[in-house]
Amino acid sequence: MNEFVIDCNSMREIMKVVRQVACYDVNVLIMGESGTGKEMLAKIIHLQSPRASRPFVPVNCGILSGMMFEDKLFGHEKGAFTGAVEQSIGCFEAAHGGTLFLDEVAELPIDNQVDFLRVLEDFRFMRIGGRELIQVDVRVISATNKDLKEEIRKGLFREDLFYRLQVIPIYLPPLRDRKNAVPGMVAYFMNQFEAIYKKNKPRLHDEVIDLFVRYDWPGNIRELKNLLERIFIISSDKAVGVDDLPPDFLWHFREPSKTMDLAEIREKAETRAILEVLRRTGGDREKASKLLKISPRTLRHKLQKYDIRVDRNANGAPPLDS
Ligand SMILES: Nc1ncnc2c1ncn2[C@@H]1O[C@H](COP(=O)(O)OP(=O)(O)OP(=O)(O)O)[C@@H](O)[C@H]1O
Ligand SMILES: [Mg+2]
Repeated sequence: MNEFVIDCNSMREIMKVVRQVACYDVNVLIMGESGTGKEMLAKIIHLQSPRASRPFVPVNCGILSGMMFEDKLFGHEKGAFTGAVEQSIGCFEAAHGGTLFLDEVAELPIDNQVDFLRVLEDFRFMRIGGRELIQVDVRVISATNKDLKEEIRKGLFREDLFYRLQVIPIYLPPLRDRKNAVPGMVAYFMNQFEAIYKKNKPRLHDEVIDLFVRYDWPGNIRELKNLLERIFIISSDKAVGVDDLPPDFLWHFREPSKTMDLAEIREKAETRAILEVLRRTGGDREKASKLLKISPRTLRHKLQKYDIRVDRNANGAPPLDS
């Protein structure tokens, strides 16, 4: 299984809680935005529990309602309804001895919540069309990206079910609130892709990492991982600079121009040109100033004024002849 990167204090605190609760059969509710690693964390809790060798069964609570939902969770007997040609077991039975992961639990249809709560009390239920009570031994972990308290206020989620599910609440912070974890995550995923694709990982310029730290990652770790995979696939032997990043990602940093401030426009245009030329000359200021048709002194002045910092030969590109 993939490793769970723990690269900041908030994650270390979370892992402390995970170690404390994993061995007990308490219900855990993992909250966090999409892509923060809720399912991955649920699996880790399962794997650190005495149930590790038994099944981990994820069920998406958002996709079914009514009888279909009951069928998915509790199964049915042969002939229970039209189309029930064979007996079928549901997720509760499939997870027997292991862990049932209720993903997107806020989406659990309100009409199904009462029955569901009852089953969570004693883990006994009947398959649809069945007569026999079935007892299972499962540990329940749920996850949501919604604020369940808000759902309760809106009348969409039962309060009693909420308290049953969240004996231990765990909140996974969005990536923008743990930005110091970004460089470590980047390194981790790049190594992972290197192993998967059997190709050398590209070197990323410091400015690229800076940009990643500045970005807010609304899709969280999933978004970061997907972008890195894209960069990894299209990269050549050359180090990856800001200009090599996909345009749709760079677009997030485009500032809407509110004014027609000429000084500002000039500064942006000059900064771009200087960065580009320095990139092409491998950071050689002498050559860069010739290409820009300005004196090395003027170039030095502009670098200072616009606070432009460039590594010498940072991208390893061969200097252009001037
Ligand atoms: N701490 C982490 N270390 C390594 N990989 C991670 C970490 N957190 C998340 N990931 C990766 O990010 C991706 C998204 O994680 P996951 O599916 O667990 O998120 P989620 O919170 O369940 O998202 P959603 O709410 O959209 O279902 C997965 O590919 C997972 O492997
Ligand atoms: Mg998920």
